[in-house]
Amino acid sequence: MERHTVWITGAGGLIGSQLVQSASRWAPAVRVLPILRDRCDLTDRHAVERCFAEDSPDLVIHCAGLTRSPLCQSDPALARRLNVEMTGCLAEVAAARRLIFLSTDLVFDGRRGMYRETDPPNPLNVYAETKVEAEERVLAHPRHVVVRTSLNFGESPTGDRAFNEEMAKAWRAGKTLSCFTDEYRSVIPVESTARALWVLARWWLDEPAGDHHRIFHLAGAERLSRWQIAQWVAAQYPECRPKLEPGSLRDYQGGPRPADTSLDIARIQKLLDFSLPRFSEWVRDRLAQRSKDTSVAPGA
Ligand SMILES: NC(=O)c1ccc[n+]([C@@H]2O[C@H](COP(=O)([O-])OP(=O)(O)OC[C@H]3O[C@@H](n4cnc5c(N)ncnc54)[C@H](OP(=O)(O)O)[C@@H]3O)[C@@H](O)[C@H]2O)c1
Repeated sequence: MERHTVWITGAGGLIGSQLVQSASRWAPAVRVLPILRDRCDLTDRHAVERCFAEDSPDLVIHCAGLTRSPLCQSDPALARRLNVEMTGCLAEVAAARRLIFLSTDLVFDGRRGMYRETDPPNPLNVYAETKVEAEERVLAHPRHVVVRTSLNFGESPTGDRAFNEEMAKAWRAGKTLSCFTDEYRSVIPVESTARALWVLARWWLDEPAGDHHRIFHLAGAERLSRWQIAQWVAAQYPECRPKLEPGSLRDYQGGPRPADTSLDIARIQKLLDFSLPRFSEWVRDRLAQRSKDTSVAPGA
């Protein structure tokens, strides 16, 4: 059987790096090519076309973008260039192959929660607006797929991309974090995101016959408030002496924030060969494993 080649854009980021690291375990038959900015600036169409022609990937998993929402809000032109134009260009260049685009739960306005793929997006901020536009550019090509994910917990190569890394940084600086008891997400460990993406990639590469859904929600199996999430995160950083206080979205002074962007994951779950985790259970298991590891004396 021919070996498929897969491009991972944003391979230096949180999700892209996890995809690269976990490929040998979840997609050993695939040839993975991490695409980093120093080889290919994805805003440069000529560079993209040249690299694409050299590598001839069968599938692109597109994780690159401007992912920090405050930065998108303060520089909408940059957000548009990196999230909409860059994605649109890649989708065109890869039109005869396949592409999986990483989008976000924040495309929804958060008035209802437990969103399905068929629910209409209604973005409330610049980051989310650019992701909705990018989704449209991607879905204009029949061989491309959109995967919306939620908050990802994990460790990034630069140590500053995951929300939990930002929380730990604030705790190390002695700050107390105020966490909303009335804002909800479906947080997921990044290793589960990567594993699910590899299942999806293998399925999509096998050219399934017939008409298929092309939007998937990939998130944890539990709807949790920011306050609950923060407590599960704090439990994993005892060395940072975490300090938390409950807050309310009603008292938030910044721009509009969706209250509940929890996701219904039934569609993708049917394709997967494992259950997407409930974050609270995943953390409990992780802490139990950690204490088992530390209680085993070296050399025992
Ligand atoms: N992480 C989450 O919790 C989360 C939640 C929902 C959705 N998502 C979506 O999932 C995707 C991946 O997220 P992530 O957290 O892994 O992002 P990330 O850690 O911020 O990584 C994004 C990567 O894109 C690269 N990039 C930006 N502009 C580039 C360019 N012009 N050329 C080449 N590379 C470029 C960045 O490189 P530099 O480091 O050099 O800038 C970075 O490595 C994004 O589309 C995001 O919207 C993520």
